[in-house]
Amino acid sequence: MARRASKLLVGVNLKMYMDKEQTLAWLDAAVTGLGSINRDDVELFLLPSAPLISQCIEKTSSSLLAIGAQNISEHDSGAFTGEISPQLLAQMGCKYALIGHHERRTLFGESNDVISQKIAASSRNNLIPIVCIGELSTEEKSAKAEVKTQIRSAIKDQKNLKKLVIAYEPTWAIGVEHPASAEHINKMCSLIRTELEDMKIEDFQILYGGSAGEGLFEMISQTCDGLFLGRRSHNPQTYISIVQECISIKAAHL
Ligand code: PGA
Repeated sequence: MARRASKLLVGVNLKMYMDKEQTLAWLDAAVTGLGSINRDDVELFLLPSAPLISQCIEKTSSSLLAIGAQNISEHDSGAFTGEISPQLLAQMGCKYALIGHHERRTLFGESNDVISQKIAASSRNNLIPIVCIGELSTEEKSAKAEVKTQIRSAIKDQKNLKKLVIAYEPTWAIGVEHPASAEHINKMCSLIRTELEDMKIEDFQILYGGSAGEGLFEMISQTCDGLFLGRRSHNPQTYISIVQECISIKAAHL
């Protein structure tokens, strides 16, 4: 079956950068600025810090911006002190769950196995998993092998996966001055697309993340369905202009 064309998706991960006042001010500015954007053109999400999720959901209830969590537990409920229940997030109105970000893998020891369990927990609770995939290697052949292994181990045995977002982020492009080259992104995102198609995943979107910002999407729009933004979206006006830029580029290529 031919895969349907994926909708443009542009998301923001605030990590733990902003305090309460900054987050809510960002949200107010973004919701206002995105007001004129057509729902048919793009899907948008924000991943705020966990303590602010509920307030962000309230503030965005009638806007285009969906809210997600930066991390979830692989368990729905039980004796797991301090963990974030995917079941509760879904009940609160969360739409997305970020899984396996490089910082979770390296600073908090998340293995491919835990990541696979978190993807299952996310789908079981009707949260859309945004799965971060990205190589450590700077050499193309081993980068491809790393990415293939991460995808296979994340996706195999997923029985309830209805929809999937992959955020492709080469680890060496996170938190630096420039994103990976367009040539590299295009090669790797084509590989990811082929892998997902081979695994018969039908409903997916592939985003590029890692120092992404203005001017990038134009060069990668043939292989990516959107962007996953970090620091470059901290100014809400820049976020709005990146969203508008992505919409125009996508429209020009239809
Ligand atoms: P950055 O973050 O754009 O600030 O590099 C991206 C990410 O880690 O998702």
